Amino acid sequence: MTLPSATVRPVRRADLAAVAGIYEHYVLHSVATFDETPRPAEEWEAKLDELAVRGLPFLVAEEAGQVLGFAYAGPWRPKPAYRHTVEDTVYLAPDATGRGLGGALLAEVIDACARAGFRRMIAVIADTGSDASAALHRRFGFTDAGRLTAVGHKHGRWIDTLLLQRSLSDGSATGSTTRPAGPDGTPED
Ligand SMILES: CC(C)(COP(=O)(O)OP(=O)(O)OC[C@H]1O[C@@H](n2cnc3c(N)ncnc32)[C@H](O)[C@@H]1OP(=O)(O)O)[C@@H](O)C(=O)NCCC(=O)NCCS
Repeated sequence: MTLPSATVRPVRRADLAAVAGIYEHYVLHSVATFDETPRPAEEWEAKLDELAVRGLPFLVAEEAGQVLGFAYAGPWRPKPAYRHTVEDTVYLAPDATGRGLGGALLAEVIDACARAGFRRMIAVIADTGSDASAALHRRFGFTDAGRLTAVGHKHGRWIDTLLLQRSLSDGSATGSTTRPAGPDGTPED
């Protein structure tokens, strides 16, 4: 996807340092993530590999050769019956917010997961005091699924998380004929 001057494309290994830098800002200076120490480079490498194996998207927004943000979808929970459900993550560099890049990334993540046959996407949003992430997700059809009160403690305060969810393919019934792709791209059992 191309915005007036930014492009959304799959992450490359060479982007991971920029991705780590963007995330580190929010780890250290915000409660948007409940991580409290920056993720080492090898964890980003492992995430890239894991998502690729699962057929899940990991994208960046790039402008003039600079990574301005990233988004990916990962498994919602490790237990196997959750395998049709994913959780999205979107982070923009602090000076790249408010331009629609979050929406451009989220739209592509949703499309990629729907194409791969996943059924539900969950957003876990820390109640930071800014409503940008919840507003973004609601704009993309996510509906409120609950609030977990005071489940995080960071920077000296208790933080709630909002849960939002969205369908990626039809129906909420089990027994779907559309199944997530396995590592080799074939539907999983
Ligand atoms: C959340 C984030 C991805 C949104 O991307 P973005 O490109 O900045 O989003 P947009 O500019 O399209 O704004 C999204 C919506 O939030 C609103 N918004 C933006 N800043 C806001 C603020 N401080 N308070 C309330 N609403 C705000 C916008 O008006 C817009 O609402 P609309 O869809 O009703 O028009 C981005 O701001 C970001 O990376 N924030 C920091 C990290 C973060 O919180 N990530 C999400 C973790 S779940």
